[in-house]
Amino acid sequence: MTGMITLENVAMEYLPGQEILKDVSLQLKRGSFHFVAGPSGAGKSTLLSLLSLHYRASKGRIRMFGEDTTWLPREQLPRLRRRIGIVLQDYRLLDHLTIAENVALPLKVAGEAPPGIEAKVKELLGWVGLTEHHDSRPPVLSGGQKQRAAIARAVITKPDLLLADEPTGNLDSELSLRFMYLFEALNRTGTTVLIATHDEHLISLFDYQVLRLKDGRLLR
Ligand SMILES: Nc1ncnc2c1ncn2[C@@H]1O[C@H](COP(=O)(O)OP(=O)(O)OP(=O)(O)O)[C@@H](O)[C@H]1O
Ligand SMILES: [Mg+2]
Repeated sequence: MTGMITLENVAMEYLPGQEILKDVSLQLKRGSFHFVAGPSGAGKSTLLSLLSLHYRASKGRIRMFGEDTTWLPREQLPRLRRRIGIVLQDYRLLDHLTIAENVALPLKVAGEAPPGIEAKVKELLGWVGLTEHHDSRPPVLSGGQKQRAAIARAVITKPDLLLADEPTGNLDSELSLRFMYLFEALNRTGTTVLIATHDEHLISLFDYQVLRLKDGRLLR
């Protein structure tokens, strides 16, 4: 089925012979919502980096968007990556660009016209509470503000797949919930959502599937 993301017996190693993920198999239906949980070092970020096509599996197969990515040539990857929104644990905002320019970047890459981009950026900055930081640069923002900018950047294209790595790690509980509702709203429009977190309380507030990792293995 083309809407499904499938991992079959996937392993991943950063260094030869040291498997960080081991024999991970899973299926994510199109438009589904999942948490990725597990202790620090369990492999949550590593799993997200495979799904974002930034690393390749050392074993197994990964199918997404109806394609087998396992042997896909490198130059084919950006086309698939444009369908994926990513919030990384360390935000990765570009310090020489303004917050508005950072948030606009995925739309610019997608070739959208500037007037449309600016309208969307304004709306989203309002939503995440960063309107007054439209022209600020990332270094003057607090950790939580950077996190909100990173989330705005990840959702602005309404991606087919949203991967968020500890997206609420720097937010208080009220803001965390607000952003969860943003992810749910996106999910209702068809985006498959995967959120890595070790916030068990946050997980307990929702009724979504939890993919639990321990020492690189998916618990059943
Ligand atoms: N770039 C890398 N090079 C080598 N080893 C790495 C790299 N990134 C992560 N690792 C190792 O992979 C293992 C899993 O790390 P990962 O970041 O996936 O865990 P995590 O579950 O996201 O943890 P946390 O909750 O602390 O974010 C760790 O032992 C880590 O040291
Ligand atoms: Mg991590």
